[in-house]
Amino acid sequence: MDDTGPYRRTLLRATGIVKRFDSLTALGGVDFDMPRHGLVSVIGPNGAGKTVFFNVLTGITKPDAGEIRFNGQRITGLRPYRITELGIARTFQNLRLFNNMTVLENVLVGQHSRMKQGILASVLHSPQQMSEEEEAHRRAMDILRFVGIDHLADTMAANLPYGLGRRLEIARALAAEPQLLLLDEPTSGMNPQETNDTIDLIDAIRSEMAVAILLIEHDMRVVMRISERISVLDYGVKIAERTPEQIRNNQRVIEAYLGRGAAAERELVPEEPTAETPQNPTPKLVPRTAEYLIFDS
Ligand SMILES: Nc1ncnc2c1ncn2[C@@H]1O[C@H](COP(=O)(O)OP(=O)(O)OP(=O)(O)O)[C@@H](O)[C@H]1O
Ligand SMILES: [Mg+2]
Repeated sequence: MDDTGPYRRTLLRATGIVKRFDSLTALGGVDFDMPRHGLVSVIGPNGAGKTVFFNVLTGITKPDAGEIRFNGQRITGLRPYRITELGIARTFQNLRLFNNMTVLENVLVGQHSRMKQGILASVLHSPQQMSEEEEAHRRAMDILRFVGIDHLADTMAANLPYGLGRRLEIARALAAEPQLLLLDEPTSGMNPQETNDTIDLIDAIRSEMAVAILLIEHDMRVVMRISERISVLDYGVKIAERTPEQIRNNQRVIEAYLGRGAAAERELVPEEPTAETPQNPTPKLVPRTAEYLIFDS
């Protein structure tokens, strides 16, 4: 049954997505459903195909096979700007700001897909009405306030500290008024405080703006804290799709991250106290659990 129509539960559905680069199969037939208003993470080892998947969803890369539907509409092969207009915005793994523009100008550029075009629209506005530019400016400032950098509106993007640059990139994506926001490693390179702030921001975007969020993230503490569902890619194939708790204990996922046999070479740590030995003064040394290495270290 197709439940991807505008009022249905599924916002985006990708079916059988294949992408090859010469002899390398970056995506080997990926099926993926994004729930409306959901928060889903895509994880997987380096080179698993996560960013290529985002590139396919946003029209940057054309898939060799498969179909993508957004609000029931087929968007496979559409140009990136059309996909943005339809309601999918993204950030990039490596910060991509317009460095020679101010913070505010970066957000105004992001609004481009929402601007009315042509002279007619401005002619029809009476002088009392806000011009489209004024309205755009007001909305851009609202978004900057939302992400907490409105006081830096006139700062050159190049002069922002790294963590705030990432915030600006999210602001620019929000300016396109997306229904679905794709974030490619939004906390990479951040210190723990910036990471926590980013988690709060992602939560707020979702709850206050009702935007669905699809997140690629290497920091498992982030993934485990905020995801409702986690999809795991390995060599371009989805090997698991579960809740965080189920993923944490999934043997295939652990093997994809650590490699088969890696469990045997694990660091030794004092055994956790048990009911029988609550305060063992000389605890036995046992290998760290594989789950610990991936999800908590
Ligand atoms: N334009 C391209 N041309 C050729 N190969 C590519 C291209 N883009 C990606 N690849 C290859 O496709 C595979 C998947 O890459 P992708 O960038 O999606 O990985 P990833 O899961 O995002 O990894 P990371 O966690 O390191 O960002 C990799 O082997 C990569 O080298
Ligand atoms: Mg990537």
